[in-house]
Amino acid sequence: MVRIVLSGTVGFIGAGNMADALIRGIVGRGILPRERIWATNRSNRPRLLGLKERYGILTTPVKPPLLDASDVLIVAVKPKDMPEVLAEIHGAVRVDQLVISVAAGVPLKAIEGSLRGVPVVRAMPNTSAAVQASVTALASGRSATDDHLRVSTELFRAVGEVLTVPEDIMDVVTALSGSGPAYVYRFIEALIAAGTEMGLTEHLAKQLAVHTLIGAARMLSEPDADSVELRRRVTSPGGTTQAGLTALEERGFASAVKEAVRRAAERAAELAEENS
Ligand SMILES: NC(=O)c1ccc[n+]([C@@H]2O[C@H](COP(=O)([O-])OP(=O)(O)OC[C@H]3O[C@@H](n4cnc5c(N)ncnc54)[C@H](OP(=O)(O)O)[C@@H]3O)[C@@H](O)[C@H]2O)c1
Repeated sequence: MVRIVLSGTVGFIGAGNMADALIRGIVGRGILPRERIWATNRSNRPRLLGLKERYGILTTPVKPPLLDASDVLIVAVKPKDMPEVLAEIHGAVRVDQLVISVAAGVPLKAIEGSLRGVPVVRAMPNTSAAVQASVTALASGRSATDDHLRVSTELFRAVGEVLTVPEDIMDVVTALSGSGPAYVYRFIEALIAAGTEMGLTEHLAKQLAVHTLIGAARMLSEPDADSVELRRRVTSPGGTTQAGLTALEERGFASAVKEAVRRAAERAAELAEENS
């Protein structure tokens, strides 16, 4: 069983954007002392040095010291680099360690097939981890226990909310919350473009659109908030909001969103197949 993470050591294989966000959250929230966090990457030494200077963690250009020291290994490399990493760490990872993969679209079986008997958890955070506002879905592998899941949950809480899901719905999760920020950005772009075309300056349209999004998101994060009820409250019969919503629905807004999630999930499934 993995040691209690607060007294254990976490090693990051991959020192890019996601590792940076997680390390910032873990150090910032005091989840682990800095000297119990290691990171390594493939070749970008300035990036590794940057992590060391910013967060005071331990870094190494080679994997053996990190593999040796870590109770939990967080593999934060691009999906295409996963086979290389698995080949490098195969045989060196112990069954008393926990491996957490954040590689989007890499199924548990691909990792477990290479690291026999090692507990594995697959994590799907999103890009808002950079501001500690991710929602991360976790799926447990065959050898992962409740303790492993608890440790993984504590680590990913450093960058936002954490939910546990069965792996067979991970493609839909990826399509919704992984790709979701981009749908929201696209909606905001469209709002800004509409405001600008109708006479607002771009600066003003952006301020209005972004703060509308932040306000609506805060309303939605109140306990028991319900989007249907919130929408009903802003929509007076015959009023401006109703006119706007009707135009959205006449142009298939909800079905466009549904199709976006469906196609993204389909693509996630194809990628998972390629990465198996
Ligand atoms: N960024 C996000 O918001 C986000 C959201 C959800 C999921 N993810 C997932 O998180 C993973 C990492 O994404 P990222 O944005 O952090 O990527 P990134 O910024 O490109 O970082 C990738 C890191 O992997 C390292 N690496 C590659 N091959 C390696 C090897 N053989 N050994 C050790 N390190 C190796 C790279 O090192 P060098 O620089 O030295 O090559 C780099 O530090 C991806 O699988 C992605 O799907 C990211």
